[in-house]
Amino acid sequence: MNQKLIFSNDFNAALDEILADCDYNRLFVIADVNIDRFVMPRIADNPHIASAVKIVTKCGDVNKNIDTLAEVWSGLQQGGATRHSMVLNIGGGVITDMGGFAASTFKRGMRFVNIPTTLLAAVDAAVGGKTGVNFNGYKNEIGVFNEADAVLISSRFFDTLSLTELKSGYGEMVKHALLSDRNSLNEILDFHFEDVAGDTLLALVAKSVQVKKRIVEEDPTEKGIRKALNLGHTVGHAFESLAMKRLAPVPHGYAVAWGIITELVLSHFALGFDSSLLDRLGKYIVEHYGAFAFSCDDYDNLISLMRHDKKSSAGELNFTLLHDVGKVEINCNVEEKDLRDALDITRDIMHI
Ligand code: GLY
Repeated sequence: MNQKLIFSNDFNAALDEILADCDYNRLFVIADVNIDRFVMPRIADNPHIASAVKIVTKCGDVNKNIDTLAEVWSGLQQGGATRHSMVLNIGGGVITDMGGFAASTFKRGMRFVNIPTTLLAAVDAAVGGKTGVNFNGYKNEIGVFNEADAVLISSRFFDTLSLTELKSGYGEMVKHALLSDRNSLNEILDFHFEDVAGDTLLALVAKSVQVKKRIVEEDPTEKGIRKALNLGHTVGHAFESLAMKRLAPVPHGYAVAWGIITELVLSHFALGFDSSLLDRLGKYIVEHYGAFAFSCDDYDNLISLMRHDKKSSAGELNFTLLHDVGKVEINCNVEEKDLRDALDITRDIMHI
């Protein structure tokens, strides 16, 4: 990964440092209307930001599509962007994914820097080179792997987030800690969400992102070990899709946290993952994320969603599982009966 990662709450100095290394003829900022309203005023006096051409998009995953992308391309064209211009993507994962794709394709590719403003984007979407948009009802259907030149991660924006948004990002940090080591996991389980804009959370984020960086460096285009980052996601995506079908969407990181419970139960069945640690993680997740409301009547639906998850091939039930914290096994095929048992145990853990 050639991507430069800067963790700093001194935004002006960090942006100076990043842009000093770059030779560009014009600077563009891509942000959505919420970021324009709540975040941009905080950084408007930065001379780089003040001199940039601003492209403001609609908000949310529903607008992460080809129409909004075309508006971004038009903004770049009207602003006189060339292949030697530079883009700053300022926002959550929708902006870093879509802005990264716009920059990667305009004039066959411009350079870009991601400045995530949500915890979820800081620990996941902004890092690792996945860019793209949704298409014809499929998430991230069109896109390329292309890393930002740099990612500037600052926790000073996190006080604009609700506790729900913070916890959603934290779900991915729990996952990274499980892929790392027991000390990191203990640190993550001990944090209590006070002073989220300060240096304690920033240090935890830095450590968490290093876990992703190490994995992405080994396998940037997800042919093998990058699938470790899917821990919690096969079940998590099924919970997310079921919630969407019920018109009661749940935050991504909550679904991942709930998915982690089921996938650790499967890890216990298949690989002997420590049951006392499973118990501790289950209690932590239920305490902080509550329960996902599902019953045995939902199993067929959930299992069908998991069979059609893009990580599974030929309708198999394919998971990333753990022998222990930091000891990952990718491409584990699971029998449907074991999955049904794991869903039963998940419901016991959730007291539903
Ligand atoms: N979100 C997991 C990855 O970037 O591979």
